[in-house]
Amino acid sequence: MVGVVNFGGQYAHLIARRVRELGVKSELLQPDIAISKVKKIKCDALIFSGSPASAYDKKSPKVDPKIYDLNIPILGICYGQQLMAMQLKGIVKSQEEKQFGKEYLEVERSPLFAGLADKEIVWFSHGDQVKKLPAGFEVIGSTKNARIAAMQNLKKKFFGIQFHPEVSHTPKGNIVLNNFLFKIAGAKKDWDLEKAKQQIVDSIKKQVGREKVVMAISGGVDSLVAATLFREAIGKNLYLVFIETGFLRKYDISDLKIVAEKVKFKKIKIVESQNQFLKVLEGVTDPEEKRQKIAKLYFEILETEAKRIGSAKFLGQGTIYPDRIESAQPTKHADKIKSHHNVTLPRDLKLKIIEPLSELYKDEVRKLGMILKIPSNFLNRHPFPGPGLAIRILGEVNRERLNIIKEADEIFISELKLAELYNKVGQSLAALIPVKTVGVMGDMRTYSYIIALRSINTEDFMTADWSKIPNNVLEKVSSRIVNEVRGVNRVVYDITQKPPATIEYE
Ligand code: XMP
Repeated sequence: MVGVVNFGGQYAHLIARRVRELGVKSELLQPDIAISKVKKIKCDALIFSGSPASAYDKKSPKVDPKIYDLNIPILGICYGQQLMAMQLKGIVKSQEEKQFGKEYLEVERSPLFAGLADKEIVWFSHGDQVKKLPAGFEVIGSTKNARIAAMQNLKKKFFGIQFHPEVSHTPKGNIVLNNFLFKIAGAKKDWDLEKAKQQIVDSIKKQVGREKVVMAISGGVDSLVAATLFREAIGKNLYLVFIETGFLRKYDISDLKIVAEKVKFKKIKIVESQNQFLKVLEGVTDPEEKRQKIAKLYFEILETEAKRIGSAKFLGQGTIYPDRIESAQPTKHADKIKSHHNVTLPRDLKLKIIEPLSELYKDEVRKLGMILKIPSNFLNRHPFPGPGLAIRILGEVNRERLNIIKEADEIFISELKLAELYNKVGQSLAALIPVKTVGVMGDMRTYSYIIALRSINTEDFMTADWSKIPNNVLEKVSSRIVNEVRGVNRVVYDITQKPPATIEYE
């Protein structure tokens, strides 16, 4: 077992997941964990995560320094490295030239870097740096701006790296983690997804017993996979509802009907609520307020449905890990990025929530879906957010804007499919920018909205790169949108990575 100490970094859970992918059980630990507890769980190794905080800040999360006396190998990542350096009496300082994004690491000899070339691409996301090594440490990696980008104390098996090996932007990151787990810490492989599936089904059975579960299918992958697990666990005591918010794309309902038939979900109750949702968003422009209002109404409708069914005690949800982490649920040290729909629950919700996928990432959910025999073309659909198109219309949502975004989205997605690019990118979307710009069409002046196209490549949806879609495809999409969608005279393509930009605009 490997303990990942979560200092509130965006990627803390991703580290735990990478460890699982390498076949080792892992668990997130809080920084204030008692030393006695660390001893009790018998970790083969500890990994210290990153954090938005600075190690020299008095209030920043810290571990009990006695942890360094336990004879457990430790890998500190980013803030984790800086904290280790500071607690072992090195010096950490804020850096004038901050490092965010791609860097080249000059690699020196270390068992941690076995199999790496002399120079490797790595991903940085922090403004602080170790300026002086603690006693017993040596430098094992540097970059243009960071002399101590990696350090080790071989005798104690302590390692610190300023870059993030867990994100896909560090191409050889897995080799580093693999070296640490197996060559340095001597961990054993004992984890796989089949086992996880059985554990989830057993745990649902145990929690639910003979009670009823109501669950909203959103038309997306996560809720369908979750529902399939519920069905396997509790059979006919699962009640499926589909709430039609009006914020769905043109093809969502027909796609859902097809897959529901294939996986033999016979009874899904459709609740038409389009007018209610539009009404509740009248005059609302703030993204968080929008998300909150949509979630409130959504869960009210679900509660009403639960009452109709009679005595449903549980609410099943398809929440996956990134939904939770970006809504800052798991730790008091993490920043709230945005309130993901499933996580924005009303305080007085009577139903008890069960989220069987809450520890998993999208690609793990897709693999689970394959084990559950859900058709792969459905599993490979791009994610679509709970609040739907309402958060892809920036500012106020109204019928005119909804029509525009539905048309633009359909053109973009169908052209990507036609060019056989849809399955090669991670997620693609069109967003309506509610700013009007001047254009000219057939010698006439136009004054219309902008559509932003965004397409990203990602493995985990926590970090992402923009897709390098060929110019001819972009050109065709742009020209179709301005010609076919009334109310739009300009199309832009978003070339921002995540971070700093999130995938959705709101
Ligand atoms: P962001 O915009 O946070 O998105 O970079 C990361 C991934 O999460 C999806 N997303 C959501 N999914 N409910 C969801 O189920 C939500 O409220 C929500 N907001 C964002 C987003 O589409 C991307 O795949």
